Amino acid sequence: MGVLGAIKARWNIRKYKITLEAIKTRRSIRKYKSTPVGDKTIGLVLEAARWAPSWVNSQCWRFIVVRDSSIKDKLAGALIGVSDKPNRATEAIRNAPVAIVACAELGKSGYSAREPRQPITDKSEFWYMFDVALAMQNLVLVAHSLGLGTVYIGAFDAKQVATILGVPEGFCVVSMTPLGYPDEEPPIRPRKELSGIVFYDKFGSNNA
Ligand SMILES: Cc1cc2nc3c(=O)[nH]c(=O)nc-3n(C[C@H](O)[C@H](O)[C@H](O)COP(=O)(O)O)c2cc1C
Repeated sequence: MGVLGAIKARWNIRKYKITLEAIKTRRSIRKYKSTPVGDKTIGLVLEAARWAPSWVNSQCWRFIVVRDSSIKDKLAGALIGVSDKPNRATEAIRNAPVAIVACAELGKSGYSAREPRQPITDKSEFWYMFDVALAMQNLVLVAHSLGLGTVYIGAFDAKQVATILGVPEGFCVVSMTPLGYPDEEPPIRPRKELSGIVFYDKFGSNNA
């Protein structure tokens, strides 16, 4: 490897470390300071979402930025608990200065690019979930790198949220997150080891 190659390799490792650091130190934040989040900062996180990859670059995502307290209250009311307790993110949606609700335009992701347009895989039309998740992951990682907290919320009545926000036919609500400055530092949740989730050549084979 030449000198230039060595410099490039060192630079790549630096970039890897910075990216991995953001990925590993992000965590779900459910307590927020009342400190407002400026429009410019909101723009920065949405810009990251916009650059996510998507099915034939169809970019089915739409984002609704909610700052109005009474609307955030209504969103909080649409959350569903996954156990016998209320959803753990309920107060976060209510108290964070901003909520971002991610929607998807239906009939794009998962569909053939040419007429007759129809779903072409066993996942049917549900690739929109994947596309929106990629955009949301960009959003939460950039938010974290700016010192902001988020938490993915999936357990809610999507039809109720669509009504609250006036989401039209042909779109559905996929996920939402509060956005604001964290007022807690929760411990990092554990992850499975690579040896438990990575196989080589055949499912179940751990022989690297
Ligand atoms: C698809 C999805 C849906 C989620 N829905 C909720 C939710 O409704 N309420 C909540 O409090 N957390 C929700 N979470 C957050 C997870 O509980 C959290 O990401 C997980 O426990 C790992 O913790 P960490 O984000 O701090 O690493 C959701 C996460 C994902 C990826």
